Amino acid sequence: MRPVGFGVIGAGVIGRIHARNIAAHGAAELRWIVDVDARGEALARTHDARFARELAPMLADPDVEVVVVGSSTDVHEAHVLACVEAGKALLCEKPISDSLAGARRCLDAVRRAGTIAAVGFNRRFDTHHRHVYDQVRAGTIGRVEMLHFVSRSPQDMEPAAAARAGGMLRDKGSHHYDLACWLANAEPVEVYGSGACLIDPRHADYADVDTAAIVLRFASGALATFAFNRRTGYGNDEMFEVNGARGMLCSQRQHPLGVTYYGAEGVVVPGLHAGWYERFAPTYAAELDALVTAVRGGANATPGLADGMRAQAIAEAAVESVARGRPVPIANTWSVA
Ligand SMILES: NC(=O)c1ccc[n+]([C@@H]2O[C@H](COP(=O)([O-])OP(=O)(O)OC[C@H]3O[C@@H](n4cnc5c(N)ncnc54)[C@H](O)[C@@H]3O)[C@@H](O)[C@H]2O)c1
Repeated sequence: MRPVGFGVIGAGVIGRIHARNIAAHGAAELRWIVDVDARGEALARTHDARFARELAPMLADPDVEVVVVGSSTDVHEAHVLACVEAGKALLCEKPISDSLAGARRCLDAVRRAGTIAAVGFNRRFDTHHRHVYDQVRAGTIGRVEMLHFVSRSPQDMEPAAAARAGGMLRDKGSHHYDLACWLANAEPVEVYGSGACLIDPRHADYADVDTAAIVLRFASGALATFAFNRRTGYGNDEMFEVNGARGMLCSQRQHPLGVTYYGAEGVVVPGLHAGWYERFAPTYAAELDALVTAVRGGANATPGLADGMRAQAIAEAAVESVARGRPVPIANTWSVA
């Protein structure tokens, strides 16, 4: 069978990860790298793909079936709309946009055209997270009542780069808001958050924060809490708990080495992963594999752009809540066509 042809927009951190996985996938072919920066040329050369600074040549290639939108968040919308117009399936990195209206325009275009459109919520493909999801769905813990998420990055980002990625409440937050909705199987209705710039005061220049506590309320009555920050000094710290009427499931902190030392002086547990990529590397390959299967089968991709829109709606409300210091209702803009 002919491999599924891919183009990747963006040769930065995430573009390089996707390019490597596409090149290694037996049923996919990496045909183009597009980036305004010369780094795209080097990446294309590494994978024997073609390079362009503009989208046009890639979009004109009939053998490109799928485009990965891995460019900076503030240009996603233009790239998604161009891919839809050209009839390509796509994987849009999260967050879809840096505004609710921008995400809405992407979702509308995808729905109108019937485009297969995945969103880069790779954490759903983590085997531990997926096991919790399966158990929740099987009814093991009964009705979901509370969820708690921790996401602490090993080190802070440069404030300008953090802002360009959407700011912490969108960039980091969207992964975890999506997990919460997915696990609770419920729609969000209100968010209340508080944030601070405790690590680098310059984040405030971009209306961003580096430390935040967020409370999300679902239509089901369930509550989710999120503890986010951008500096640990001890590695990538992520875990979540799902509390139900009959029990609790926890996707625990993972260690790269499953060996614990027990000695007279105490017990030594290995440290955490160095960063998010080290922790979640296999999920990017699994996400790609699911997309190739969806494209081959003509099925829609999961998680899709509507999931991205829902997480974006939570993120926008969280940004507003942190800025104004009051709860913000979330209008359902993802279920309606
Ligand atoms: N799913 C995940 O775990 C994950 C991880 C990291 C980043 N991301 C997301 O991926 C996106 C990119 O993040 P990154 O860390 O790779 O950023 P990055 O800055 O490392 O790379 C972005 C690339 O996009 C290119 N670019 C910017 N404007 C462009 C344009 N108009 N046309 C073509 N290329 C353009 C830049 O030159 C750069 O090479 C962001 O939306 C981010 O939130 C997702």
